[in-house]
Amino acid sequence: MKKITFIGTGYVGLVGGAGISEFGHQVTCVDIDQEKIERLNAGEIPIYEPGLKTLVKKNVNKGRLHFSANISKTIQKSDIVFIAVGTPQGSNGEANLSAVEAVAKTIGENLNGYKIVCTKSTVPIGTGKRIEEIIRSVNPMGDFDYVSNPEFLREGAAVKDFLHPDRVVIGTRTQKAIDLMGEVYRPLYINETPILSTSVETAEMIKYAANAFLSLKISYINEIANLCEFVGADVHDVTRAMGLDGRISSKFLHPGPGYGGSCFPKDTHALAATGQKYGSPLRTIEAAIKTNESQKVRMVEKLSRLMGDSFNGKTIAVLGLAFKPQTDDVREAASRVIVSRLVELGASVHAYDPIAMDNFKNHFPNIKYFDSWQDAVKSADGCIILTEWNEFRGLDLNELKDLMRFPVILDTKNILSIQGLESCGFTFDNVGRKLHQ
Ligand code: UDX
Repeated sequence: MKKITFIGTGYVGLVGGAGISEFGHQVTCVDIDQEKIERLNAGEIPIYEPGLKTLVKKNVNKGRLHFSANISKTIQKSDIVFIAVGTPQGSNGEANLSAVEAVAKTIGENLNGYKIVCTKSTVPIGTGKRIEEIIRSVNPMGDFDYVSNPEFLREGAAVKDFLHPDRVVIGTRTQKAIDLMGEVYRPLYINETPILSTSVETAEMIKYAANAFLSLKISYINEIANLCEFVGADVHDVTRAMGLDGRISSKFLHPGPGYGGSCFPKDTHALAATGQKYGSPLRTIEAAIKTNESQKVRMVEKLSRLMGDSFNGKTIAVLGLAFKPQTDDVREAASRVIVSRLVELGASVHAYDPIAMDNFKNHFPNIKYFDSWQDAVKSADGCIILTEWNEFRGLDLNELKDLMRFPVILDTKNILSIQGLESCGFTFDNVGRKLHQ
């Protein structure tokens, strides 16, 4: 059993801390936000993530998981300190490392014996070296090993992804650190999860290369879907056949309104910026970023065509605001760009999302929000689906048609039956399935 600190109680810190306590270690999650720690100590989970509350409660009750705002004391008592603070995108596209650097300084000041300092946050390649330098500058005699241990969990499936990862990457220089990290992840060794030991820089690169590749895959299929519309092909049949080729795989080949969230947009920009910095540009990733931006705008153009090229004075129901289902996160969501443009073009937006409305209200306080999809679509002139929540997959098309003023819908997630829409008499469009006139 190891004593572990997680610094930062966002998605990665909270899920990681709870997950590692589930592995049997003593974990304390710390944060500079005292109020957040008080809420966590009162049993409140600040993010919506399926299974997280149960996991936290179980491990708190077992006495393995704690929350504290006393960062120094917690570090001093730990064998391993995980850095899991945010790395938001800076104005130049590069990740903003001020929180990581401040944490490195605090760790240096509290290094009272051998410890592992391990970064879980996604940080630009070379940051490990910088963290080591900061710790050494604060505490030249400090005894520690640095580890880069990138996290691959997805929001909405974070608990499952953390407890059953496809692989664990441990980037470090010493065997002692590899062995200690092996103890942290011992239950995964038993499950035969591949554990890869690499250099720090390689581990940092793996995370960016993986996320950027997935973004690229989505932008690629979005462009194929767009072309399908012009040539009269069905993108679902195309991706099904493509996905059966084991070299391609069917995952991350779903077209839509463009990817969002806290990772892909930020990480692609950061990797592209790193490429530029070293004079080794990643042109494919730069193109994927541009494609993703234009895909969002393209959805507005598609809806505009369905609406007779004018939104002025029209009511548009927006179903789904989260960047994907099973989360209340609206960071970089396609809905942000699309709603903003609809409002600019004179539409009155009636929005509904099962759980992301509160977060969306922080950015769009002036549109109208409703407690059910039925209320949101009532008397609407048009409707757009932006998130594939299960309740939208199963919506009754006859009921939808009866509630709307005009039966006009853009299904950007391709979740509704084309035959159903046709037989109900909808004017509709989707992404890459219906021939574009
Ligand atoms: C992603 C990575 O999957 C994860 O490994 C990493 O740790 C963090 O970034 P996340 O952002 O939580 O996870 O969600 P993900 O399920 O990957 O979806 C990201 C975006 O891509 C969403 O907007 C989603 O709708 C979109 N997407 C995904 C598609 O448009 N098509 C697809 O086929 C898959």
